[in-house]
Amino acid sequence: MILTRRLLACVAAALLLTNTVAFAIPERATYFDPSLPIDKRVDDLMSRMTEDEKIGQLNQLFYFAQFMKPEMIDPGLREGKIGSLLFVTDPATINRFQKIAVEQSRLKIPLLFGFDVIHGFRTIFPVPLALASSWDVDLVERVQTIAAREASATGIRWTFAPMLDIARDPRWGRIVEGAGEDPFLGARIAAAQVRGFQGQDPASPGRLLACMKHFAGYGAAAGGRDYDAAYISDAELYNVYLPPFQAAVDAGVGSAMSAYMDLNDVPATGNAFLLHDVLRKQWGFKGFVVSDADAVGNLVTHGFAEDKADAAARALTAGVDMEMSIPSGISNAYSNNLAKLIKEKRVTTAQLDEAVRRVLEAKFKVGLFENPYADEARAASMHNNPEHRKMARIAAQRSAVLLRNEGNLLPLDPKFSSIAVIGPLADSKRDIRGSWSLADDMKTAVTVVEGIRAKVRSGVKVEYAPGVDIARSYPSLFELFFGPRPKLWNETQGPEEFDKAVKLARSSELVVMVLGQHEEMSGEGASQSTIELPGRQRELLEAVSALGKPTVLVLINGRPLDISWAVTRVPAILEAWHPGAEGGNAIADLLWGDATPVGKLPITWPRSSGQIPIYYARNLTQEPESKPGFKSRYWDIPTSPLYPFGYGLSYTSFGYSNLRVSKGTAKLGESVEVTVDVENTGRRAGEEVAQLYIHQRSGSASRPTRELKGFERVVLAPGEKKTVRLTLGKRELTYWSSATRGWVHEPATFDVWVGGDSNATLHTEFQIAR
Ligand code: BGC
Repeated sequence: MILTRRLLACVAAALLLTNTVAFAIPERATYFDPSLPIDKRVDDLMSRMTEDEKIGQLNQLFYFAQFMKPEMIDPGLREGKIGSLLFVTDPATINRFQKIAVEQSRLKIPLLFGFDVIHGFRTIFPVPLALASSWDVDLVERVQTIAAREASATGIRWTFAPMLDIARDPRWGRIVEGAGEDPFLGARIAAAQVRGFQGQDPASPGRLLACMKHFAGYGAAAGGRDYDAAYISDAELYNVYLPPFQAAVDAGVGSAMSAYMDLNDVPATGNAFLLHDVLRKQWGFKGFVVSDADAVGNLVTHGFAEDKADAAARALTAGVDMEMSIPSGISNAYSNNLAKLIKEKRVTTAQLDEAVRRVLEAKFKVGLFENPYADEARAASMHNNPEHRKMARIAAQRSAVLLRNEGNLLPLDPKFSSIAVIGPLADSKRDIRGSWSLADDMKTAVTVVEGIRAKVRSGVKVEYAPGVDIARSYPSLFELFFGPRPKLWNETQGPEEFDKAVKLARSSELVVMVLGQHEEMSGEGASQSTIELPGRQRELLEAVSALGKPTVLVLINGRPLDISWAVTRVPAILEAWHPGAEGGNAIADLLWGDATPVGKLPITWPRSSGQIPIYYARNLTQEPESKPGFKSRYWDIPTSPLYPFGYGLSYTSFGYSNLRVSKGTAKLGESVEVTVDVENTGRRAGEEVAQLYIHQRSGSASRPTRELKGFERVVLAPGEKKTVRLTLGKRELTYWSSATRGWVHEPATFDVWVGGDSNATLHTEFQIAR
């Protein structure tokens, strides 16, 4: 699809060119008056619009500076045929386009510029899966506040984030863009992101409009193959896939993006159940909906719509307000067909007006009529901003998860005087950043080698050898589109590089191995059939480990990988994910103890690909794993994952005790307070995430063996003990039942566990009485 975009972009100009019609609009028409309420301003503006101008507001086009000329877009802007542009990241170009829209178009309606500000804009923060590993909602909010500040200074007033797709299959490349497998954690992180982007008011300086995506169920792609159809029961939809979206709506998210795939045979972009019944009727969402790129036109490709006109009619009727598409005039299902559809009475003017109204409301809401332009000087100050870089370093420290630390190898003893840093990702500026790093200056990213060199005392020898290359069979979507094209697809680097790395390790006192995946190996169109360490990385790890040196494995990746071999042989393993521009510094901080790991896995870590899908909130079976003598449901490997959801070590240890509930029996609708003491039982200061899990023992439907229903971060000095209080309210005790086909809050006995991961053993219980 992306390839077609590039080809078709070239024919854009011709199709957008027609004569400009100039009508006089009073200089200070009512809709320019900021003192009036937004609905009055929209009423006034809409009363002046032609049908073509209305349709224009629903048209969002890509602009790729790499291979498009701005003149291709200009005529459409003058004629009011374009409501929004995406992918323009240069403030001067934004201002150039905006000037045409607000000075030369008849109604002077400003353009809304959108971009995928996913984990930073000029300053790249850890990828979303990493940020979710922090379980730190304040941190997530602060990170997105900075991202919003940088992007909005550039004139981008709309981000296609947060991505809220629950993902339980690490083969799916887009798992890197979300918050992992859990609806409760996902919902908390979703709300924090919306607050970070939009603040109290998206029109206030430094804020922008958020867009929750991809609505909904995209993460359940069969086989982890991106874009594949998702089949999700209503119970799973309401209990697992939708809660983060509902949380975003509750937090006031301004827009939503419809997903690409079929949901239970109805494409999400033509799905009135999702876009109308759930989003608007059940949740009261007031913002507007944009389609994913070309998703309206692709209703035909799906074998759903008859042709592009049918696609436009069905998407608009289902609830897609704006169409995101390439500027080809071919895929623009809305702009090419809506006028005709209205004439043929397949779409009503009222339906068109409703969509236009929502888009205009958003433009007023972000203050575009008052402040349409980017402040170019301010935009320049967003490059390499020291305050933002500092935050990126903190975020990377807090997003890393310490998976193993045998013999307390970490934090490292400063005594080591020669260090071998080995692996194909150790000195890669591109890979430290992660997917969706498209508007930053890659040169400023700090690699692990650079971070370590800056960290160690003078006189310590730090040497680097890549050892192997990472082989792949196919380029990813982003490489095809934006480049650079990968040079070595099937080859691996020669044996001399491998031997050089082993030799370097042999002659060094300490080895830091940096393995994982290139940044483009996860993200859109970057699914894979197995989670094995790609290429000859495992072989290299085996050869280096055989030397018996103190060895730390640092993982740079966007999904859990099969590291079963390493977890019994390599003493220390730190999951850094793609930690962003300050990643190398943050990793060095963690390795040498200037920062303490605080991250927890937001996803269950499988032992191997064969266990996928695996997630902790599974239902009990007739052979529960807790049954005495239970071995495994597989005969070849244990049923349990390599690491449970919520897992992560610190440089200190924590003890939990004194778990109690405020009442042994509560009435329906009453809250139950859960209290627990958490103690730092080690010798270093640390921070723990106390996690509360419940299980409803009986009900109209079976409930998962455990579900996360609360968590809190606790900072503890050595020996310090604090009491954590968490509340289980009606909301936490309610679920959508397949039996009653509705939300239920039922009398039952509830198990409660609190601890440092989803295997927590400290237990109590309470009842909800009739
Ligand atoms: C992705 C969206 C993204 C859009 C615009 C699509 O291919 O699925 O997540 O927001 O492109 O870049």
